[in-house]
Amino acid sequence: MNQVEKARIPDVPQIHQLINRFAGKGEMLPRPLSELYEDVRDFFVIREGEQVVACAALHVSWSDLAEIRSVAVAEDSQRKGLGDQLVATCLKEAAELGIATIFCFTYQPEFFRRQKFADIDKMELPRKVWTDCFRCPKFPNCDETALIYHAEEQA
Ligand SMILES: CC(C)(COP(=O)(O)OP(=O)(O)OC[C@H]1O[C@@H](n2cnc3c(N)ncnc32)[C@H](O)[C@@H]1OP(=O)(O)O)[C@@H](O)C(=O)NCCC(=O)NCCS
Repeated sequence: MNQVEKARIPDVPQIHQLINRFAGKGEMLPRPLSELYEDVRDFFVIREGEQVVACAALHVSWSDLAEIRSVAVAEDSQRKGLGDQLVATCLKEAAELGIATIFCFTYQPEFFRRQKFADIDKMELPRKVWTDCFRCPKFPNCDETALIYHAEEQA
């Protein structure tokens, strides 16, 4: 079992590389380095030695809402359960914070559906749309799928 750890500042350039490698292939949206430093406390990582091989972030949106974003697992480390482990860790942290509703925007909806996320209309997430989405180059032609997880429904 790989260990999930909170990200540290020296991990940020590697997180940036990991996310932007997939973003370059159109598999996720890019994240600027400056934003990743600002959001470093959102991130969990899995390392192999000094190398970050997987990352995911839990970003608090409001009193009752958080987003899982930037889930990325290096190609050689995929299909070994790391993605599942990271999402589970984000959901656990949300529960510890007292947040029961977690959403994500993704090009891999099937991966999240397996984790009991359900599809949702993006317009039901107005806070996301009018903050992050509004700044996205693809706005308003978003081609990601929005999904939502309600902790109390899983209990
Ligand atoms: C999507 C991604 C995070 C999955 O990570 P992973 O570590 O390979 O996933 P896991 O090994 O934990 O897989 C868990 C389960 O999801 C399934 N799964 C993995 N990737 C999947 C995908 N793309 N579509 C559907 N199911 C998928 C696996 O088969 C596994 O199920 P199983 O145990 O029943 O076989 C990884 O492929 C990735 O980083 N992709 C590029 C970036 C990206 O698309 N991120 C999406 C989130 S924004």
